[in-house]
Amino acid sequence: MEQKIYIETYGCQMNVNDSQVAASILVNEGCSITEDIHQADVILVNTCSVRDNAEKRVLGRLEVFHQEKKKRPNVIVGVMGCMAQRLREKLLENNNVDFSIGPDSYRSLPSVIKHISEGGEKLTETTLSKVETYADIDPVRVDSNGVTAFISIMRGCNNMCSYCIVPFTRGRERSRDPKSIEREAKQLVKEGFKEVTLLGQNVDSYLWTDPDNPTHTVNFAQLLELVALVNPKLRVRFQTSHPKDIRKGVLYTMAMYPNICPHIHLPVQSGSSRMLEKMNRKYTREEYLQKIQDIREILPDSAITTDIIAGFCSETDEDHKQTISLLKEVQYDSAFMFQYSQRPDTLAAKRYPDDVPEETKTARLNEIIALQNTISLAANKKCIGKTYEVLVEGTSKRSENQMIGRTPQNKVCVFDKKDCAPGDFVHVKVLSATSATLMGEIVKPRKYTQYDKNAYRL
Ligand code: 5AD
Ligand code: SF4
Repeated sequence: MEQKIYIETYGCQMNVNDSQVAASILVNEGCSITEDIHQADVILVNTCSVRDNAEKRVLGRLEVFHQEKKKRPNVIVGVMGCMAQRLREKLLENNNVDFSIGPDSYRSLPSVIKHISEGGEKLTETTLSKVETYADIDPVRVDSNGVTAFISIMRGCNNMCSYCIVPFTRGRERSRDPKSIEREAKQLVKEGFKEVTLLGQNVDSYLWTDPDNPTHTVNFAQLLELVALVNPKLRVRFQTSHPKDIRKGVLYTMAMYPNICPHIHLPVQSGSSRMLEKMNRKYTREEYLQKIQDIREILPDSAITTDIIAGFCSETDEDHKQTISLLKEVQYDSAFMFQYSQRPDTLAAKRYPDDVPEETKTARLNEIIALQNTISLAANKKCIGKTYEVLVEGTSKRSENQMIGRTPQNKVCVFDKKDCAPGDFVHVKVLSATSATLMGEIVKPRKYTQYDKNAYRL
């Protein structure tokens, strides 16, 4: 196969990684990757179904790809990811798509593309697997900054949060062999990467059992340690943690290894125990707050971020107020905030009417966003005057003379270039802050490459 492949990716970081796995599978068969859609023989779009607007955006893109197909009828268009899994043949009927392929079927990409290019019928490949983890595939790091990379440690989700489509589109949870994860991290270090993020829908339920010796298991805290030990200069991050499953062992491992970044993304979804029960999250507001207290005690310097859903089924003003009060109590560094979007086939779609009026959802979301913005701003302002170790990721979009990077706490930091380059660790003193960004100046020259957890105390 010698086709030129163009891949567009929507949705979560898991999808970014999956696109790299797909690219790897195709490159191994002789294909090449192009960033120019007009040069492409095959256009792939990796999609997300988590909210309706994510799907709408992709349907808009399919229109654009259709125009390209009109100009060049031999172009093949394929849909990957959650929408492919959810909509299957429906995508082929209405959207000028040649094939749809679900998240566990990417090994079939070469044969599917071959089939279509030889004039075969449109087709869907959407079998979900209980074992597929793509453990042996080294993702081709397309679209990479060469400094930070994602490593997928598990696939699927068993949680069945009632609003969420992921268990239906990505199937049952499977954990990847820790040795293959370690190998991938070592390879990334060799290639010059300075930071890895371990990815899973619920990393705290990572559990690998050695097929040759079922008494030998590896849990997430142990895996985290294994990756931290790959190289003391490699920054290690992870997401997403689940409040019902996060254990103190993970927090202690974070405290022990200075190269594990002090940041926990701990989605709460709602501050109301009544809503949490309906969402099937399996924790109460009080239990969640206890986890926050544990984090603050064991990792006092850690950033904590979250996800919030406004306007879930039957949410009252009182429930909403509970979310507002929880935001005030926890003081998150930042949050991703959404209004509830009913997804077909989920437990909530089957059991509960989507009965919060659209205007109410929007008004509540806006109130949540406005509040969190003030909280994020206050949290960032606390950084002013402190010095952080920042991993330089690239040039700022706004100015060629400014660089962009992240603190260990995952806060985006912008500073004058001086003589630093992507991949350097520099010490940046924060001079000002907005709710989204820290602005500062380098106070220690480049070539500082040793990770120093205490940098900001200097
Ligand atoms: N509607 C709105 N937000 C959702 N999320 C997941 N499903 C839905 C939905 N149906 C949000 C949750 C989750 C994040 C990835 O997306 O907050 O943590
Ligand atoms: Fe969806 Fe819940 Fe699994 Fe997250 S933990 S992917 S919200 S079912």
